[in-house]
Amino acid sequence: MEYLKFCFVFSCWIKFASSVYSTDAPKSPAPIPKEKLLVLTVATEETDGFRRFMQSANYFNYTVKVLGMGEAWKGGDVGRSIGGGQKVKLLKKAMEDLADQEDLVVLSVDSYDLIFAGGPEEILRKFQQANHKVLFAAEGLIWPDKRLADKYPSVRSGKRYLNSGGIIGYAPYINRIVSQWNLHDNDDDQLFYTKIYLDPLQRETFNMTLDHKCQIFQNLNGAVDEVLLKFGTGRVRVRNTAYDSLPVVVHGNGNTKMYLNYLGNYVPNAWNYEHGCSHCDDDVVDLSQLKEYPNVLVGVFIEQPTPFLPEFFQRLLTLDYPKDKLKVFVHNNEVYHEKHIQRFWEENRNVFGSFKVVGPEENLSQGEARNMGMDLCRKDATCDYYFSIDSDVMLTNRQTVKLLIEQNRKIIGPLVTRHSKLWSNFWGALSLDGYYARSEDYVDIVQRKRVGVWNIPYMAHVYLVKGSVLRNELKERNYFVLEKLDPDMALCRNAREMTSHREKDSPSPESFHMLRPPKGVFMYITNRHDFGRLISTANYNISHYNNDLWQIFENPVDWKEKYIHPNYTRIFTENFLEQPCPDVFWFPVFSEKACDEIVEEMEHYGSWSGGKHEDKRIAGGYETVPTDDIHMKQIGFDKEWLHFIREFISPVTLKVFSGYYTKGYALMNFVVKYTPERQAYLRPHHDSSTFTINIALNNKDSDFQGGGCRFHRYNCSIESPRKGWSFMHPGRLTHLHEGLPTTNGTRYIAVSFIDP
Ligand SMILES: *[C@@H]1O[C@H](CO)[C@@H](O)[C@H](O)[C@H]1NC(C)=O
Ligand SMILES: *[C@@H]1O[C@H](CO)[C@@H](O)[C@H](O)[C@H]1NC(C)=O
Ligand SMILES: *[C@@H]1O[C@H](CO)[C@@H](O)[C@H](O)[C@H]1NC(C)=O
Ligand SMILES: *[C@@H]1O[C@H](CO)[C@@H](O)[C@H](O)[C@H]1NC(C)=O
Ligand SMILES: *[C@@H]1O[C@H](CO)[C@@H](O)[C@H](O)[C@H]1NC(C)=O
Ligand SMILES: *[C@@H]1O[C@H](CO)[C@@H](O)[C@H](O)[C@H]1NC(C)=O
Ligand SMILES: *[C@@H]1O[C@H](CO)[C@@H](O)[C@H](O)[C@H]1NC(C)=O
Repeated sequence: MEYLKFCFVFSCWIKFASSVYSTDAPKSPAPIPKEKLLVLTVATEETDGFRRFMQSANYFNYTVKVLGMGEAWKGGDVGRSIGGGQKVKLLKKAMEDLADQEDLVVLSVDSYDLIFAGGPEEILRKFQQANHKVLFAAEGLIWPDKRLADKYPSVRSGKRYLNSGGIIGYAPYINRIVSQWNLHDNDDDQLFYTKIYLDPLQRETFNMTLDHKCQIFQNLNGAVDEVLLKFGTGRVRVRNTAYDSLPVVVHGNGNTKMYLNYLGNYVPNAWNYEHGCSHCDDDVVDLSQLKEYPNVLVGVFIEQPTPFLPEFFQRLLTLDYPKDKLKVFVHNNEVYHEKHIQRFWEENRNVFGSFKVVGPEENLSQGEARNMGMDLCRKDATCDYYFSIDSDVMLTNRQTVKLLIEQNRKIIGPLVTRHSKLWSNFWGALSLDGYYARSEDYVDIVQRKRVGVWNIPYMAHVYLVKGSVLRNELKERNYFVLEKLDPDMALCRNAREMTSHREKDSPSPESFHMLRPPKGVFMYITNRHDFGRLISTANYNISHYNNDLWQIFENPVDWKEKYIHPNYTRIFTENFLEQPCPDVFWFPVFSEKACDEIVEEMEHYGSWSGGKHEDKRIAGGYETVPTDDIHMKQIGFDKEWLHFIREFISPVTLKVFSGYYTKGYALMNFVVKYTPERQAYLRPHHDSSTFTINIALNNKDSDFQGGGCRFHRYNCSIESPRKGWSFMHPGRLTHLHEGLPTTNGTRYIAVSFIDP
């Protein structure tokens, strides 16, 4: 059935297609052979934009002649000011040799900000359909002389005004137009063509018209909202939704270069759904082929108190890159972190090529510090790359620096995102007036549904810049634009303020910095690999002794990595737990660090209860089986502790007492200290809990002797508690138990009576 249906549809289509062609055929002239199309463009430098232009031209096999390469540019700032005369002069000269080729079609286009979305056959077909000798690009905005608006022939629909970024026509006609040029290099080319076009006599003589409905030329200026990507099989096009056309030449004129960059991430074949990224492996550097690894200056910026800073430095240490090739520059703005840096430096002073720290006493603004770091590489001719990384970037990929170097771009950053959020270190788009805008592809890039190397307008937190670029395109100092980074909400709120920052280029100490591409340089973000994450520095309270313990809510992934036992997950995958006594389960839960920091935190607090029966901390004020302890609540850790129980203890409960769902509710959460001098043991008792957890916080033998726990009903003792491991046992009725005497040293345990 399916087969028949398919045949039916297919033959219908054939019939339909042939009828269209057969009725059309007699009217259409023979198509112009594609060899008859010559593309002329003016480019004085091989910018990234020029390379992109050539890439798209080569993809469609255009014949391109580049005029002016290597010449100094004298045409003024063709951004949106008068200029471009040099282009006409060069075209005039080139046309002299082509003037007598009557059937040659010349396509004269800009190149720095232009992409081909279709091939020569299509352009020629559309040119023929236009039925004129010369066709100019059109746009909806008039430039440079608004007073000429009335002179333009009116159009019922379509763009009314001439744009000189694209011209197509027969060689003799183009020649006769440009041969009229007798102005200066910095005179305006668009005005020149406009005046010719607006002269009715010349318009007729040269048989000129404008591409009003963007059949061939799409100028993005004033038309960004009309132009969307159209994904097809293989190729990606742009579609003009106002005229339902598929333009062939896409021009990011005026203030629309960023939108062109976005389109250029796809068009014509840079990325699509079927094959993904097609240029990602072009021009890559093979580090294994180099005699020596390049020198990298690593600029580390600690601009605010940052959780997990020791772990940040450890990751720097474990980067897979020869450490003698890494020089480290640290700007630390926080007195709080001096001890972390000091400790890291003492342990690793000889690991890196060099290690320089500028501390808070220098009172540098963030902008000054970033400029200083960049300058260190800029001024050192042996510095091949500058790798800037902020302390809130957790690079989990040890290959990051290598991968970025291999990608061989002038400026490239690895995508890092906030865990389970849409926050990241780049912006996908900027609205025309400089506001933050979310690009159509932002979410897909952040979630790695589209994978590749993306040309983007802004990024921050972590990126690699070539030293040679710092010494050329980025040779200006004070490069930093300081803006709020928060691609979600805050940015929109701060947009006004942000725009003014951008205009002033002025550093603002309380804001994050962002890197924007210098003129002519593309800036990329890669999400080809998982590189790591951005941690949250908000709500980081540094008034405790070990502040990261409190980060279980704000940075759950890093908290787990630091504080949960590495074998914890094996409980569920490999049944990695023991049952030393009936219904007493024993499993790893805390890392060494968690144990040490909790003990430190308690000793820092210092107010041990002394094991008295009178206890103001509890309801009733009387404890029948008192221990020498400190409650989690006393150090302000109760909310975090209960969250820990829900996240990490509840799943174990469900596993070993199947069918019992704990709410993870507990009033009594405390750390007990046993010493022969104060309290060495605890007499037999029941706990006021459904079940109890009892986590050993230090090591038998090295920290204390004795200790352990005995369950009377089963005549069963556990005498060798393991640091970081927890017991879990029923609290009432069956599990009468006692704490065995600690005979020497100090023993610490953390206890919770759960579901009392
Ligand atoms: C360009 O030319 C090459 C080699 O002749 C050919 O394989 C390729 O298909 C052509 N590309 C297009 C888009 O026509
Ligand atoms: C312009 O040229 C086309 C052929 O290229 C011709 O058919 C048309 O009549 C010409 N128009 C004018 C106004 O001369
Ligand atoms: C640090 O710099 C700020 C602004 O530049 C200034 O207001 C402040 O007084 C300086 N502090 C010290 C200790 O120099
Ligand atoms: C930080 O922690 C201290 C000690 O627990 C507490 O007194 C203070 O209120 C906390 N600050 C904030 C902003 O939460
Ligand atoms: C995890 O368990 C393995 C045995 O399966 C052991 O060798 C390893 O030391 C354990 N890791 C830690 C941190 O205790
Ligand atoms: C308890 O066990 C120990 C050995 O583990 C044994 O010597 C003792 O007799 C047992 N006590 C009872 C009451 O079963
Ligand atoms: C107690 O511990 C200390 C230090 O850990 C050790 O020097 C001493 O010998 C121990 N005493 C006994 C009785 O084991």
